Amino acid sequence: MKFSQNTPPLGGGGLNILLIGSGGREHALAWKIAQSPKLSKLFIAPGNAGTSAVGTNLSINVSDFQAVKNAVLGNEVNMVVIGPEDPLVNGIVDFFEKDDELRNVPVIGPNKEAAQLEGSKDFSKKFMVKHGIPTARYLSVSGENIPEGVDFLKKLNAPYVLKADGLAAGKGVLIINDFDEAVTELNNMLGGKFGKAGSTVVIEEFLSGIECSVFVITDGKNYQILPEAKDYKRIGEGDTGLNTGGMGAVSPVSFADEAFMKKVEERIIKPTVEGLQKEGITYKGFIFFGLIKVEGEPFVIEYNARMGDPETEVVMLRLKSDLVELLEGVAEGNLNEKIVEFDERSAVTVMLVSGGYPGDYEKGKVIAGLDKMTDSIVFHAGTKAENNEILTNGGRVIAVSSYGKNKDEALSVSYKNAELIDFEGKYFRRDIGFDL
Ligand code: AMP
Ligand code: GLY
Repeated sequence: MKFSQNTPPLGGGGLNILLIGSGGREHALAWKIAQSPKLSKLFIAPGNAGTSAVGTNLSINVSDFQAVKNAVLGNEVNMVVIGPEDPLVNGIVDFFEKDDELRNVPVIGPNKEAAQLEGSKDFSKKFMVKHGIPTARYLSVSGENIPEGVDFLKKLNAPYVLKADGLAAGKGVLIINDFDEAVTELNNMLGGKFGKAGSTVVIEEFLSGIECSVFVITDGKNYQILPEAKDYKRIGEGDTGLNTGGMGAVSPVSFADEAFMKKVEERIIKPTVEGLQKEGITYKGFIFFGLIKVEGEPFVIEYNARMGDPETEVVMLRLKSDLVELLEGVAEGNLNEKIVEFDERSAVTVMLVSGGYPGDYEKGKVIAGLDKMTDSIVFHAGTKAENNEILTNGGRVIAVSSYGKNKDEALSVSYKNAELIDFEGKYFRRDIGFDL
C-alpha cells in the first residue's frame, strides 16, 4: 500500500522535515531525526530553546493549518511529523490530503478519523470490544441514559473510573472511591465540568495492576514495535498526589518480559492494526498503547495517537535504528522492510518541573547550569531563549535523560545532573523507577 499514487520516492538523502510541537517529546524526536544521514534540514514549529540547537525553530501557531502550509511551501519541506495529539484530532492530516499543493507531502500521524483512538474514549472502547482487544468493562453515558449509568456503577466495585469522552488535557479521568460521589461526579461531568469533552462519559471497571507504555510505528498495514517504557505520572514520590503530564520514565520495563510482550503483540497490537484496516481507517504514524498488567495479562487502558511524553525521552535513546528511515517506511508503506534495533542499555529520564506544577506556577525563571552537564542528554520541554538566557516557559521544564548498564546506573547519572541545573522553584521526583 503506497502513501499515494503520486508520492515521489523519498530516498536518496536531502529530506527537509518539519516537526510540529514544542515539548520534551519533540526535542527528543528532533535530536534523533537530526542524527539521520537522510536529513537535509530540520524545522520545528514552534519548538523550544532546546530544539533550536538541532534544527530551525519556526514561530508559527500550529493550530493554524494555513500557517503550517505556508511553512511547508516556504521551506521546501518534504515530510511533516506531528508530535502532539491536538493537531491530529483536529484534522491536520486531512487538511494536507485535501490540499492540491500539499497532497504529496507525507504527514506522519493518523488522520482525524484514526486519531479518534485517542480523541474519543467511546470510539476507542467500541473499537476494542469489536476487535476482541482486552480492556476494562465499560458503559458510555450521555445525558439521556444517566439512570443506566447509575445502574452500571452499582454493578461495579469501588473505586469507580469516570472518563470524559473527548480530549481534556490529561485531566478528564476521575477515580473515585465513594459510590455517591461517583454518581455526583457523573452528573457534574455530563453537566459540563470538562466542557464538551465530557458530554459523553465512559464509566469503566477499575483494573488493579502495573502500567507500562508500548509504542508502535505503522504504515497502516505493517508495524514495528519500538522500545517500551514506564512513566511516572504523579507529582509526588511513591506515586502520590496529583496527576501530571509525566515526571520521569524508564526503559526497558522489567515486568514487560518476553512472554508478556508476546501477549501484547498477539492480543493487542495485531488486532489493533488489523482492526483499523478492516474498518477502512487509514492510520499512519505512532500508536501509543497505555497498558496495564493484571495477573500477568495485558489490558489496554488507553490508546494515544502519538508518542508519549516523557516516554519519548527514553525511547529515542534506546532506538538504535535511523528514525528517518522508519518515517520513510510509514510514508512509502514498506515499514516491513525496515529493521528496528534496540540499544541494550537502560535509559531513564527525570523531569525537572516548575514549583507549583501541576497547579499554578510561574514562568520566566532563568535556568542555570545547563553547561555543566556530563554524560546526560538534556531535552528541553517548557523553555525559551531570550536575551542570551534560557528561561522556564512551562510546567515541565527539562528532561534529564541518561544511559546506564541498568536503570539504577542511568538514574544516578540523571540525578547527578538534575542537581546541577538550577532555576527558582525547581522540583523533581527522586524515586523514578522505584517499583521496577
Ligand atoms: P487514561 O487517560 O485513560 O490513561 O487514564 C489516566 C490514568 O487513570 C491511567 O494512566 C491509569 O492510571 C488510570 N486508569 C484509567 N483507567 C483505569 C482503569 N480502568 N482501571 C484502573 N486505572 C485506570
Ligand atoms: N506520558 C503519558 C502521555 O504522554 O500521555
